[in-house]
Amino acid sequence: MTAITLDMLETPAAVVDLGRMERNLQRAADYSREHGLALRPHVKTHKTPLIGAEQLRLGAAGLTCATPHEAEVMSGVGKDLLVAYPPVGAPRAARIARLAKHARVTVALDSERAIVDIAAAAREAGVTVGVYVELDLGMHRVGVPGAAAAVALARRVTAEPSLEYRGIAFYPGHVREAVEEQDAALEALGSSLGAAIEELSKAGFPPGVVSGGSTPTIWRSHEIPGVTEIRPGTYVFNDRTTAAVGACERDDCALTVLATVVSTAVPGQAVIDAGTKALGREPMRGVEGEGFGALLDRPEVIVARMSEEHGILDLARTDWRPRVGDRVRVVPNHVCIVVHLNDLVYGIRGVTVEESWPVEARGRGQQEIQQA
Ligand SMILES: Cc1ncc(COP(=O)(O)O)c(C=O)c1O
Repeated sequence: MTAITLDMLETPAAVVDLGRMERNLQRAADYSREHGLALRPHVKTHKTPLIGAEQLRLGAAGLTCATPHEAEVMSGVGKDLLVAYPPVGAPRAARIARLAKHARVTVALDSERAIVDIAAAAREAGVTVGVYVELDLGMHRVGVPGAAAAVALARRVTAEPSLEYRGIAFYPGHVREAVEEQDAALEALGSSLGAAIEELSKAGFPPGVVSGGSTPTIWRSHEIPGVTEIRPGTYVFNDRTTAAVGACERDDCALTVLATVVSTAVPGQAVIDAGTKALGREPMRGVEGEGFGALLDRPEVIVARMSEEHGILDLARTDWRPRVGDRVRVVPNHVCIVVHLNDLVYGIRGVTVEESWPVEARGRGQQEIQQA
């Protein structure tokens, strides 16, 4: 069989350096083991059962999902699933509860309505669903703001025979400082968390699990007292944002978008066939003028502007003058969006394409309406 090489792939294409991915997976597994933290990786980044299975093989305690479709797909490889998203609405709750027939399922929630919906769905399916009560520790997205509200929800959960209170969850997505500048943010987080744990315990609801963690904070998770479980997702591939905060090196960015230069007609720039439908429109957080991705081999060259199928490389900071037909690899700002835009991802070693895999959990997995 003749080898397939990078230059044979149609572009744009999402390609994963398998060696880098393996290193990223191993590093997080080792860190968690060393610090006695349960690792429950978020699959929203890779949306791929084969990678979920590898995370479990390396010691992950279970998998974290955001959507019912992710949980359904991952139930093929993992039997301990957390849906870290409010299970609101009967259709969503029913899909999640159904999974509990064959897997240990936990949801994170922050409202009475979510309790009612998931309790009814679990009752209907004849299953027990676990619950983490979600706290807002600074991100201001979801989660109750204080310990008193958390106690009230925990009490409410324990009153539902189809639910089991298993602990608390928070997401430190607001901690975006460079890794070495996170001291104050982590300290504030730890003290709010400590107060919540204390109050829950006093009220008779000590959290069995305290679930937190993100990729920017991954290597400092053990510094937050009380945390027992971490849910990083991006770490599997990493991206330009992760490298910018120092939670990985540039050499740890495993996924790039392979693209072809399709025009150099306008001076000072080159156009590639990767626009918003290949890269997403994800700015670098908190920095202006950093574009929507940077070249793997020439980080000074950024994707400055985009249309749907065009990415404009700014050549102002380089002497490099690409020719039409040349190929480049773009490190995306936010890798999770890129994966979700692709049907298939290619796995490479050097320039050899070793494998490809479908992004099985992308989309919503909706059922078509069958007309009678
Ligand atoms: C609830 C929750 N947990 C964990 C994660 C994973 O965080 P990261 O992307 O920083 O790895 C996310 C990411 O969006 C999330 O929303």
